Amino acid sequence: MEDLAPRPGDLDPIETASRDEIAALQFHRMKRSLKHAYANSPFYRKRFDDHGVHPEDLKTLADLARFPFTTKTDLRDTYPFGMFAVPRSDLVRVHASSGTTGKPTVVGYTKHDIDVWADVVARSIRAAGGRRGDMVHVAYGYGLFTGGLGAHYGAERLGCTVVPISGGMTERQVTLMTDFRPRIIMVTPSYMLSILDEFRRQGIDPRDSALQVGIFGAEPWTNAMRHEIEEAFDMHAVDIYGLSEIMGPGVANECVETKDGLHVWEDHFYPEIIDPETGAVLPDGAIGELVFTTLTKEGLPMVRYRTRDLTRLLPGTARSMRRIEKITGRSDDMIILRGVNVFPTQIEEQILKCAGLAPHFQIELTRGAGRLDEMTVHVECTTAAGDAAARAASARDLAHHIKSVVGISTRIAVGDPGGVPRSEGKARRVVDNRPKEG
Ligand code: DLL
Repeated sequence: MEDLAPRPGDLDPIETASRDEIAALQFHRMKRSLKHAYANSPFYRKRFDDHGVHPEDLKTLADLARFPFTTKTDLRDTYPFGMFAVPRSDLVRVHASSGTTGKPTVVGYTKHDIDVWADVVARSIRAAGGRRGDMVHVAYGYGLFTGGLGAHYGAERLGCTVVPISGGMTERQVTLMTDFRPRIIMVTPSYMLSILDEFRRQGIDPRDSALQVGIFGAEPWTNAMRHEIEEAFDMHAVDIYGLSEIMGPGVANECVETKDGLHVWEDHFYPEIIDPETGAVLPDGAIGELVFTTLTKEGLPMVRYRTRDLTRLLPGTARSMRRIEKITGRSDDMIILRGVNVFPTQIEEQILKCAGLAPHFQIELTRGAGRLDEMTVHVECTTAAGDAAARAASARDLAHHIKSVVGISTRIAVGDPGGVPRSEGKARRVVDNRPKEG
């Protein structure tokens, strides 16, 4: 794989600024942002008043801890436009995320917000090894989801040629990649695996594609998956993080030269890690829930938004800005199986250790005869290892790895290639078939 580290002169000065410079900028922007929220969002004015805090109370960055949190419920309760800090007519775009229950959460952007978003995505693509003139195949979904349009504007901003194919029609994805020869792909890691299968189905060696960089995100994925994809395509696989409530993709991104976690673009998004139970701010290095305060957003400023994503903050390496470790999962996705906490990413890691198994999987939860919860991991054999004896051996192998590393007993169902449902966007990793309580 090629060395794609950007030249220092290509970076925004703030990417290599000192911590003091970054902190000074953050304080200035945070103050302005809190004032804007208080003055222009009736929601935040009431929230701050109820909490007995005022933007003037921010004397240092640490004073942010005195301000109240914002949650997804707040967005739902003010659906659709109740949290905005500008008149609706000043928004040039809205996005929305469906969510599993109830109303979608709606977010809105001013022209300036879209501009900042394009800048941070351009910075993210550059961190991943992209440059002006590259062709970028965007297979994140276009529409209310922020993935497609977010990637698109950022790639254009960097000066790339965008192929706005969106998700789905996998056969055509491979055809266009073969004909156009993009150097970069932006897509969920789970859909990248479907694209990989399609390359093989068409008898095309994925290593012959022109791809050099994949920028994967929107769902948790592991370093084991990174190696799987890098090997299959002979390309770099880099992690991109974001969420619609804060912006969309491009809140944080890994650097191709280090691949050691995602640098948070701290000049626009201020991260904190809190104890999810008590809400107390934890020191850098401790694992907890990621919380963001936007520093430059106009349309929908967010103060201490609880992401529910679990990770920790680490010092900068390839850039001065702090990193988040690859996200283990969302607190919502944590399965508690007979007292043991399990994340789908832990299961993914074990599957990728088993040579006879493909990397696709889905976890099913059921209630067994003894009223105990049971977990079945649905996986697939690779075509090469399809006979009954090989499948049984793979199942034993996986059950053993999960038991010894994760600490739980699972049923393993090894199906035919193609047996596990495929995603064209975010994968659905857990299917809960336990009887509903009450
Ligand atoms: O998924 C934005 C995005 C699009 C990010 C394309 C990256 C690439 P939402 O639909 O609002 O926005 O979902 C946000 O997805 O809170 C995480 O739980 C999860 N997530 C996003 N990126 C990652 C990642 C987009 N790199 C939610 N690793 C977030 C793990 C991720 N989880």
